[in-house]
Amino acid sequence: MSQLEFNDIQGIILSAYGKLSSACYLCLAIDDADSARDWLRDVADEVRLAKDAAPEVASMNLAFTYPGLQKLGLPFQTLKGFSAEFQEGMAGSDYRSAILGDIDKNAPAEWEWGGPKNEPVDLLLMLFAPTDAGLDGLMRAHRSRFADAGLREVKQLTSTPLPDAKEHFGFRDGISQPKFSGATQSRDAAQVVKSGEFLLGYENEHGQETMSPMVDPIEDRDSILPPHTASGGLHDFGRNGSYLVFRQLAQDVRGLWRWIDDSVRGSSGDSNAEARIGLAAKMVGRWPGGAPLTCAPERDDPTLAQENEFRFHRDGDADGLRCPIGAHIRRTNPRDSLAPKPGSKSSLAINRRHRLLRRGRPYGEPLDESMSPDAFLASDDAQANAPRGLQFLCVNANLSRQFEFVQHAWINNGHFAGLQDETDPLLGDRGNGAGLTIPGSPARTRFAGLPRFVSLSGGAYFFLPGARALRYLATAPRILASEYAAPAPPAVYLAASIWLRVARRVSNVLEASIRFTRRFTRTRRVIDRLFQRHIVTFVQYLLQRRLRDEGLAIAEEQIMQGEGEVAQRITEHMTQFLFKHYREGVAERAGNTKTYGLVKAKFEVLPGLDASLRVGIFKEERSYPAWVRFGGPGPLVTPDIKNNGIMSLGIKLMGVEGERFFDDERSTQDFTAISAPTFTTPTVFENLKLQRNIGRGTPVFYFLNPFDSHFLDAILQGVYAKAHANPLEASFWSCVPYLFGTGCAMKYSLKPQIDIQSHVPWRPSDNYLREAMVSSLAAQEWRFDFFLQMQTDPVRMPIENSSVIWPESLSPQIKVATLRIPRQTFDNDEQLAFARKLSFNPWHCIREHRPLGNQGRARKHIYNETSKVRQRINAEERIEPTGAEF
Ligand code: HEM
Repeated sequence: MSQLEFNDIQGIILSAYGKLSSACYLCLAIDDADSARDWLRDVADEVRLAKDAAPEVASMNLAFTYPGLQKLGLPFQTLKGFSAEFQEGMAGSDYRSAILGDIDKNAPAEWEWGGPKNEPVDLLLMLFAPTDAGLDGLMRAHRSRFADAGLREVKQLTSTPLPDAKEHFGFRDGISQPKFSGATQSRDAAQVVKSGEFLLGYENEHGQETMSPMVDPIEDRDSILPPHTASGGLHDFGRNGSYLVFRQLAQDVRGLWRWIDDSVRGSSGDSNAEARIGLAAKMVGRWPGGAPLTCAPERDDPTLAQENEFRFHRDGDADGLRCPIGAHIRRTNPRDSLAPKPGSKSSLAINRRHRLLRRGRPYGEPLDESMSPDAFLASDDAQANAPRGLQFLCVNANLSRQFEFVQHAWINNGHFAGLQDETDPLLGDRGNGAGLTIPGSPARTRFAGLPRFVSLSGGAYFFLPGARALRYLATAPRILASEYAAPAPPAVYLAASIWLRVARRVSNVLEASIRFTRRFTRTRRVIDRLFQRHIVTFVQYLLQRRLRDEGLAIAEEQIMQGEGEVAQRITEHMTQFLFKHYREGVAERAGNTKTYGLVKAKFEVLPGLDASLRVGIFKEERSYPAWVRFGGPGPLVTPDIKNNGIMSLGIKLMGVEGERFFDDERSTQDFTAISAPTFTTPTVFENLKLQRNIGRGTPVFYFLNPFDSHFLDAILQGVYAKAHANPLEASFWSCVPYLFGTGCAMKYSLKPQIDIQSHVPWRPSDNYLREAMVSSLAAQEWRFDFFLQMQTDPVRMPIENSSVIWPESLSPQIKVATLRIPRQTFDNDEQLAFARKLSFNPWHCIREHRPLGNQGRARKHIYNETSKVRQRINAEERIEPTGAEF
């Protein structure tokens, strides 16, 4: 058991501050991040910490929404280490609203704060004091401090303590709380929950550490944050922090008691106080005074007001005859009554994974000071309609497994524990069922048509950082702050998994064997000559059979849902990769990594082209100066013989006039191609899977995963992947299509004019490909023919699928230009450094030749962002060559 670090944990996580009866919550927006950081530096030391377990003096705690952390400049990859639910936010998607039951009148669009129509909330300032006067003073002091610090108050959420620690319906609240292992003791072991359920950085009920956002040490030079032992030197931003759920729940007190009154009258013909309280207690599972029905089935018992060490199954209430199965406390904490084996240790163990640490307080005046249901029933409309409810706050380390699960699978589940069409009687979403069953002997009582008694006025997910993390947030923005930073933690956690290690080993063995077979180049050449064409034809035949007529025109694209997000993810994977591998050194490209050679060339458009081909750069017979980069596949720089056998080519024409997509290069036109006619992945969605596998060190599994195989792509790549002898002897293909003027699409390819196939040396040096280029270009000029293939059939020559080779039977390759690489020497450090500064991007193009298809669209973002990261790591400026160096 790891010792809790009380001097780093915010006090509200360990204590409900019972002695501080006055509280308020201020939702703030950050207008000026620099001033907000100064303010945070000032107040960070005043945040109440858990070492003062039950403070008696005014206290303050701080929590942040995801946008708030973004504004404060937390590094990009640290932000990505937060849970997806937190990143998305409580009101972030229809899906999340559906899970939480935040629909119809409770939908975020209807909220008073936290919703899409409200001002954004960046942070929550929680203030607590022993008296109202003390709270007023505290609020005044804080308001004057943050008003000058670029922070704006968006919403003040108040609280009002009610007599006898009750909530508005009239029941004692805050009795049952899980006990922290390491912080509190309990006679009942079932109540003790591992600290990792409520704190990041500690073991949870699954025996694991909950995923925590990490910071690269270069982003934390003063080592404010603690190092994370299992993650190769990353610093742990999340340690001692937790997620805070805030929901403002308005309560219709008179509505509840009127319904109870009507129901009692309906079932027994008469309504009296005792019967009303009896039914209400059945709905809650405790008596108004707090005694649990399981222990005090007949009447309230003040001696059991704080009783919490009971279990439904073990204590003889398996059937809910005392506390109904669907009662509020039985749904929100079923204790030992969970299937499949109620009463067993495993039932308790499952339950422990869904506990919440409640920190809420009531707000608004009570409907009647007496808190008596009779008085509630007698209240007038003005009193009944006054705002009142519960500021529901709960702490949990895993939003989806804890709060969201309880809300979705238990509170709002119409079939919870075998019930039919009923949700939590106090606060359930009636769309899933409005019934209530009170088990009884000999007969149960069933009520129908329960109205909603609780509705949602606003809410948000916050993060409660530890004290060190608060200080870190307050420091100046990091060097690589806003967009890119360290490897994200998921990779770190995956690394610990035994399956991943096995998968990696297998992947390495497979890769090594594939590499080994490639050494037999002569045999391979014979095999290629005999089989390559037939294999490709057969695989293409299979792929063609899958193509469907989507009703698209020539050159028409089909935007796919979610492709923007996928492009973002791929960018993240690649930037993580760059940071992980080049933190200490000179960063190379994340893909097409190794530069075999950057050479000067001339791109000559042929004379006499057909009028239909005289488009864009091919408009007239002309010669463009060009930089040509021959590169290896990556993602790492390896000895040439160890690469995966597919090379890449980047051509940058200069002096090209026309309208562009990016401002960074005004007169270039880039062509990018690889030494295979199909792309490694058919779509950007599959590309993300490949990137994930690369990140995990299991690239082979992308192709061979039996549950999501890419066998045909593996074959196509395998047929073209080989140990090359000289990049100048290879053919290259664009694989993906490009626009050709308007309403036309094309793919391009390059083929060396001289058909030589030299041999790979038996003992190749690490850079034998560069050496081969050096000696070839020292001896003679090399020329490539540049071909275009026009799209003539939108079905069989698809735009969106890069595994399909456009059949030459439908459209031939047409030679339109020559790439001339003159004799030259290029093998020097300056030229290599220059190659790093160049950015080859298919979107460096004139509008007539823009990329088409999902991978082309994604590359716009990916190339641009990853080349920025590379140049940032290397502290190099991106340059646009003009040809002046020729
Ligand atoms: C206005 C809304 C609510 C009211 C009036 C209310 C009322 C109560 C009352 C009277 C108790 C029994 C006292 C106690 O054990 O502390 C209780 C317990 C509890 N409530 Fe609520 N509650 C509300 C909303 C929620 C929500 C939204 C959740 C979770 C998503 C929740 C989760 C719990 C849990 C976990 C317990 C403890 C159960 C146990 O451990 O036995 N409550 N609530």
